[in-house]
Amino acid sequence: MTEVRDAAHDECLRIVRASGGTLAWHVSCYELVRSLLGDERLGLAHPVPRLASRLLDSPMVGPLDVTPEQERAQHDLMRQVMQTIASWRASQRLRHIVEAVVDTHVRRLVEAPRPANFHELVAVPVPRAIAGAILGVPDEDQEHLGVLVERTHDDHDRRGASAAVSELQGYMLRQLRGRVRAPRDDLLTVLSRADRSGDGNPAPPMQNLAALILIAGSVTPTSVIDHGLVLLLSHPEQRPLLDDEDLAPGLIDEIVRVRSFVPPRPGADPPNGLSRYANTSFQLADAQINVGDLMILDTHRANFDETQFGDPYDFDGRRPTNPHLGFGYGRHRCPGANLARLELELLYRAVFRRLPTIRLAVPTDELLSQIRRDGGVVRTLPVTWD
Ligand code: HEM
Repeated sequence: MTEVRDAAHDECLRIVRASGGTLAWHVSCYELVRSLLGDERLGLAHPVPRLASRLLDSPMVGPLDVTPEQERAQHDLMRQVMQTIASWRASQRLRHIVEAVVDTHVRRLVEAPRPANFHELVAVPVPRAIAGAILGVPDEDQEHLGVLVERTHDDHDRRGASAAVSELQGYMLRQLRGRVRAPRDDLLTVLSRADRSGDGNPAPPMQNLAALILIAGSVTPTSVIDHGLVLLLSHPEQRPLLDDEDLAPGLIDEIVRVRSFVPPRPGADPPNGLSRYANTSFQLADAQINVGDLMILDTHRANFDETQFGDPYDFDGRRPTNPHLGFGYGRHRCPGANLARLELELLYRAVFRRLPTIRLAVPTDELLSQIRRDGGVVRTLPVTWD
């Protein structure tokens, strides 16, 4: 994606070229990104989905094939159900699941030959196993589901990615039907009760939500876990915060704000962010937004906006306030945020307690070229220890 021209009054809003050559608005300053995330004139639906611009050629970031009204109704229902994991008290109830998964995988890391691939041994399986356990998917299915989740994000194989999304949804539908017959103490059972289509079966939004929880609960946390480890390894002065239960949450939120050990380079990186479509035409400063326009709300750059964050390029777990947008904002704000915070806190604490001398086993430059080549994604993270 490339910048086409400055569109409006300042750097905040520009027109860029989206996937396939179509145009989109790119928004990068904090106030405007936050206000547009809370703006009801934007949504995930597009009046004619096949004509919609896309940020990436991936089924995970395209428009929803519903009207804005249907989107809102389905989303309201989804948010109600997600309360199960959204509230802090609820995420504390899930603590024992997180502890057990973290313990298993950190033990595997400790026992692995050195150098060990932290990405493969910890960052990928931990969030996926936690999301799977909370949903209640059987252990023996986890590996196959993991392969499907990976395929949903394959930017080079759009058909394969769409097929993986459909297969995951079909799998979840079978699980939900099973829970209607035989309820258990898990999130799939909650979902199976949430939306019956009149014939006793769960309706499509719930199978889609179950698949979304597995995908969203795996892919983004994996990336944050990888990048957060590199941030902590390169800022050893911050690590003592992890041992203080009152201070650790500030450090974890700083990891989510900074998000990558490679800070954004305004004007150099391709624009990236959360996709929204205009449901109506409106004027935004000097810019005319038309119905169906794609708006890319760049929360990553917004999190480095110096009007909000003093010394934004410093990684500082003691910021007095940290109103970052790393978990989004508004009606789609991440319902797994508190669970994710808990995962990150317990995981890093366990890693540094068990392996106090852990360090990168490759030069940082090698990692840098890897993630620049792969669009910000870490694929191997070799670590070693004494
Ligand atoms: C560090 C980890 C995580 C980060 C940084 C993160 C970030 C985000 C962001 C930015 C959004 C908003 C997307 C948008 O507005 O378009 C989002 C949505 C979502 N996240 Fe997370 N997330 C994390 C972990 C999780 C976990 C652990 C789960 C569940 C187990 C989860 C489930 C979801 C779901 C279901 C949505 C869709 C919410 C909606 O559309 O209303 N996330 N996440």
